[in-house]
Amino acid sequence: MWQTNSWRKFTAKHLPDYPDQDHLAEVEETLRDFPPLVFAGEVRSLKRSLADVAEGNGFLLQGGDCAESFTEFHADNIRDTFRVILQMAVILTSGANLPVVKLGRMAGQFAKPRSSPTETQNGIELPSYTGDIINDIKFDEAKRQPNPDRMLKAYSQAASTLNLLRAFADGGYADLRHVNSWNMGFVKSGPQGERYRHLAHQIQESLNFMEALGINSGNTPQLRQVHYYTSHEALLLPYEEALTRVDSTSGDVYNTSAHFVWIGDRTRFKDSAHVEFCRGIHNPIGIKCGPLLSPDDLIEMLDILNPNDDGGRITLIARFGHEKVESYLPKLIQKVQSEGRTVVWSCDPMHGNTIKSANGIKTRPFEQILEEVKQNIRIHKSEGSRLGGVHLEMTGQNVTECTGGLDDISEADLSDRYHTHCDPRLNANQAIEMAFLIADELKTNGH
Ligand code: PEP
Ligand code: CO
Repeated sequence: MWQTNSWRKFTAKHLPDYPDQDHLAEVEETLRDFPPLVFAGEVRSLKRSLADVAEGNGFLLQGGDCAESFTEFHADNIRDTFRVILQMAVILTSGANLPVVKLGRMAGQFAKPRSSPTETQNGIELPSYTGDIINDIKFDEAKRQPNPDRMLKAYSQAASTLNLLRAFADGGYADLRHVNSWNMGFVKSGPQGERYRHLAHQIQESLNFMEALGINSGNTPQLRQVHYYTSHEALLLPYEEALTRVDSTSGDVYNTSAHFVWIGDRTRFKDSAHVEFCRGIHNPIGIKCGPLLSPDDLIEMLDILNPNDDGGRITLIARFGHEKVESYLPKLIQKVQSEGRTVVWSCDPMHGNTIKSANGIKTRPFEQILEEVKQNIRIHKSEGSRLGGVHLEMTGQNVTECTGGLDDISEADLSDRYHTHCDPRLNANQAIEMAFLIADELKTNGH
C-alpha cells in the first residue's frame, strides 16, 4: 500500500543525515501546513500536453539551472532565464512545426546528488555540498552540516520565483507581439541575434496577417499567454513528502512542490525509496536513463511507475554522453517499442558530457552537447521512434561555464564568469544558438 511516507521503508540513497532529528520533524510539520506551490489542475494540463508530445504532436523544452541557489536569487535572473526559454521555444516551434511545452528547471531545483559524500581541501575532509536546500557551499565545518531550516528558505524562494513566473506568463510579458522587444541582452550582437531578429520578423508578419483576419492577442489568449511549468529532481524526500497533498477535486495525490519531478540517475534502482515515492503521486515523472540502466530494468521501472501505460505520465531522459549514446539508446528504444509503452523520449545532453578542463574546472564542450542531441534525433528516426524533447542546464546570464559556441569560449575564459553552484550551464547566447541548431536538425532529420 502506497502512502506519502511509504518510501521510508525502502532504500534511500543521497539523503542527508540530519544531526538533529527532532528539528527535522518540526520543519516537516511546518511545511505540511504551508500552501501548495502548484495546483492539481495545472499538473493535469501539463500531463495532457506531455501525452500529446508522446503522440508526436509536440516538443518538450526543459531547462534551467543545475542547482538554484540562495545567493543567485534575483528577479533579473528569473526573468532572463524565463525569456531565453521563451525565445528558444519560439525557435524550436518554427523548426519542429509543433507546439513546445515549456518546463523550467526552476522554483525548486535545489537538492543535488553528488558522486562523493565528502570533499577534501588542504587535507581537511567535510561533507560535500549537496544543494542550498540541504547545506552551504562554503567549505566550513558548521556550514556543511545539513540544516533542515534551509528547506523553509527553499520553499519561500520557490514560492516567490513561481509568483514572478506566473506574472510573466499571464501578465502580458509573454505576448507574442513582444517577440521583437523581449530584451535580447548580450545576445543582440552576433549571428544568433541576427537570425533571431529574422525569425521575430517572420512571426510579426504572421501576426499582422492574423490580425487582418480578426485574430489578435485581445481575443485570442494563446497569443498573449504561455503555459509555463516548473520541475526539479525529487531528491530530498522529507521536503517532497511534506508538500504532497490529496487534491480535493479528484481525490488523487499530487506532489505540489512542482508540476513535474524526475528521478535522478543515481536514485533509480531496485527497491529505491525515490521510485517508491514517485509511484504514488499523480504528477508526470521523468526518469533519467544512463549507461547503468538495462532495458529489462527500464520496463520493470515502467511497470512500477506507470502500470496502466498512461500517456504523459513518463518522460525518459536519456543522458549517455555523445560517445556512448549509440551503444545504449537503441536497445532501450527497441525494448520500449516491443513492450508497447507510451513515453516521451527526451535527451539530456549535459550530464554525460562533463569534463575537467586543463586547469581543473568542470566544463562541457558546446559541440559535444550538440552532437548528443543530433545522435538522439538520428537514432530515434532510424528506430522508427521520435525524439520528443531536450533537457538542458542553462541560464539567461552571460556566464562562461561551457566551452565553444559562436563566442568560442575557451578553457582559459572559463574563470571569467563561472558562477554555477554545481554543473556548467549554457549561457544565453549558447542556449539560443543550441535552439537554432536543434531546430535545423529537427527540420532536416526529424520526422
Ligand atoms: C541533474 O539533472 O542535475 C543530475 C544530477 O542528473 P543525473 O541524475 O542525470 O546525473
Ligand atoms: Co547537473
